Amino acid sequence: MPPLILSTWSFGPVANNPAWEAMSRGGSALDAVIIGATAVENDPTINSVGIGGLPDASGRVSLDGCVMENPDRAGSVACLRRFANPCAIARRVMERTIHVMLVGEDADRFAEREGFAPIGEKGLLTDYARAEWEKWINDPRHVDREKYRGWIPPLNVEEKARSGPNQSHDTVCVLGIDGAGRLAGACSTSGMAFKVPGRVGDSPIIGHGLYVDQEAGAAAATGNGELVMGTCGSFLAVELMRLGATPIEAVSEALTRITKRFKLGPDHQVAMIALARPAKPGEQWGGWASAAIRPGYSHTITDAAGTRVEPAQRVLMP
Ligand code: GLY
Repeated sequence: MPPLILSTWSFGPVANNPAWEAMSRGGSALDAVIIGATAVENDPTINSVGIGGLPDASGRVSLDGCVMENPDRAGSVACLRRFANPCAIARRVMERTIHVMLVGEDADRFAEREGFAPIGEKGLLTDYARAEWEKWINDPRHVDREKYRGWIPPLNVEEKARSGPNQSHDTVCVLGIDGAGRLAGACSTSGMAFKVPGRVGDSPIIGHGLYVDQEAGAAAATGNGELVMGTCGSFLAVELMRLGATPIEAVSEALTRITKRFKLGPDHQVAMIALARPAKPGEQWGGWASAAIRPGYSHTITDAAGTRVEPAQRVLMP
């Protein structure tokens, strides 16, 4: 039951705990999801979001993120290189411009004009992320993303060997519904590890990595962005809820669309979370959902009963 915060992956408590605290102090769902995403962006031990994110093929980190409350309340930035907090900057795009999305150097300049502190001399690349990139670039077996035009490359050898969450594409998506019954979402990533420089995935694209409509629901996606972009994953899930699907039916169908329309390799993973639209007077709230194509994914849920990291409610290809 609302209020609640739902986020992707087992690092979710990093997001959910400050987000819940903000909402408990009277903050809106939008305040809360941005506080949650920012906490993950600022954690250098999380290698797929913000500071500490793995770099692109040139060894430079770029960050993408977006926030959304409604079709007319959305903001996004892509390919930030000098600032650590795409979701907070995306909120400024939403609130202070007539636009939805800013990209590249001009997005960095916008953040500077808005008073955000640049990351400074050391940049977004941590020593760990630099070492991982050096291992990748020096490994003759590494997968050159440039060579796979139009297709999604398998992950490299070291990535394959890892179990559990995959640092290559573990976007943090944070969805919230506050005590006033208002939905919001934030989505933040450093994108696919060792991507072609300039590559932007699903996360900052409204309707792909995140979609929120107070009249229909909220959904967000994590995993291989190219798979989500081929199916407008989050928009699809929200539209299915608008047509009457429950949150678990909606995310299951959006993920099934991916499994049907792409030839998936064993490493390809997408997971989705969703919240039902706010309840109307006299109605019971429609709940939330979390599902994944493959095992290994967890979500984090926080409500009045506390914070729990749990496996997906449904795995399509167990
Ligand atoms: N889902 C994150 C990305 O592919 O960039």
